[in-house]
Amino acid sequence: MRGDYARPTAATAQRLEFYQIRGTRRWGRCRRAENRGRSTVNPVDFEEIERAAQLLRAGALIAFPTETVYGLGADARNADAVRRLFVIKGRPADHPVIVHLAGTDLLPRWARETGASAEALAEAFWPGPLTLILPRASTVLDVVTGGQDSVGLRVPAHPIAHALLARLLVLGSDGIAAPSANRFGRISATNARHVAEEFGNAIALVLDGGSSRHGIESTIVDLTTDAPVLLRPGAITVEALRRVLGSAPRPASSQSPRASGTLALHYAPRTAARLVSPDELAHVLSTSTKPVTSIAVLARSVEKPTGFAGTWIRASEKSVTYARDLYASLRTLDALGADEILIEAPPDGPDWLAVNDRLRKATYRQ
Ligand code: TXA
Ligand code: MG
Repeated sequence: MRGDYARPTAATAQRLEFYQIRGTRRWGRCRRAENRGRSTVNPVDFEEIERAAQLLRAGALIAFPTETVYGLGADARNADAVRRLFVIKGRPADHPVIVHLAGTDLLPRWARETGASAEALAEAFWPGPLTLILPRASTVLDVVTGGQDSVGLRVPAHPIAHALLARLLVLGSDGIAAPSANRFGRISATNARHVAEEFGNAIALVLDGGSSRHGIESTIVDLTTDAPVLLRPGAITVEALRRVLGSAPRPASSQSPRASGTLALHYAPRTAARLVSPDELAHVLSTSTKPVTSIAVLARSVEKPTGFAGTWIRASEKSVTYARDLYASLRTLDALGADEILIEAPPDGPDWLAVNDRLRKATYRQ
């Protein structure tokens, strides 16, 4: 994962253009003058990044792509801007937000102590889809930490996120506070259109970076207690963490610090959604008394029955691709106005931990 993305410095960012390679989710970069005639979609050039960085400095909210999901960003040193973030998202004020940094070297400005685990994890996985919870530095705003003594930190790998952070640093601020760019409790946004669906004109600018590469939020590891705790599974697997830490992080308990993604109902479509085993799915479809058109299905291994007239999305058999497409699929199914979304439960097992976590939360019923 390391090195996959361009990592321009603030100085080189001014002369570079990013482009998504057509038909792929990979990024390229080149000097602006060399970009003529290249296959580009969603080009985001330095003017856009400059505008976004200036808006942030002026206290505005902007959305930007990361390799996990889109973030709704505010200057992390501007308390008013971060407060507005909570209002627009509809998120309770005591929930902390992650601060995104341009590089690991900025860590000491935000965390008062790091320690061997944090350093090893940062070295192994940053820039990338990992968030570390660390003891906060005294200068971190209360509104960012939700009043807790810890702060969530992440160095994202997406070239646009990185260029934005690098430019913001030049303009005088060293972090972007950004939750996922969705209204509280709802499905995260994995492309710029999703962000627009969530917020319309309520935010100043959306930087369009195409579809998110991982499609689910970062792995969160809490390093504020004696042993690392996994607060949220994500693209960095438990096995990958174990390789670096020497042992697997402990699962989160009810004593773990508040993380809104750990609430029972989260990442949820508006339509009632139900998680069913492959056998159950076939059974429900053959015995349902509802008109099939009122049922929307996210299947994985089960074949669409002949004559089924509802909407059927066949998700990937592979966990990584399944995760990448999950939120877009849920949004598509949610928009149909169906009575119910049936989701075929993926297998248990370590590769599916993050996906199953999101599906459990999307389908939670009181
Ligand atoms: O991939 C991601 O992490 C995305 C992108 C935009 O970076 N961000 C994201 O943010 O998912 P959000 O706010 O939707 O989820 C972050 C989670 C929340 O559940 C929050 O409560 C938790 O991280 N969190 C942040 N700071 C924390 C802290 N100091 N202690 C415990 N949990 C924290
Ligand atoms: Mg979120």
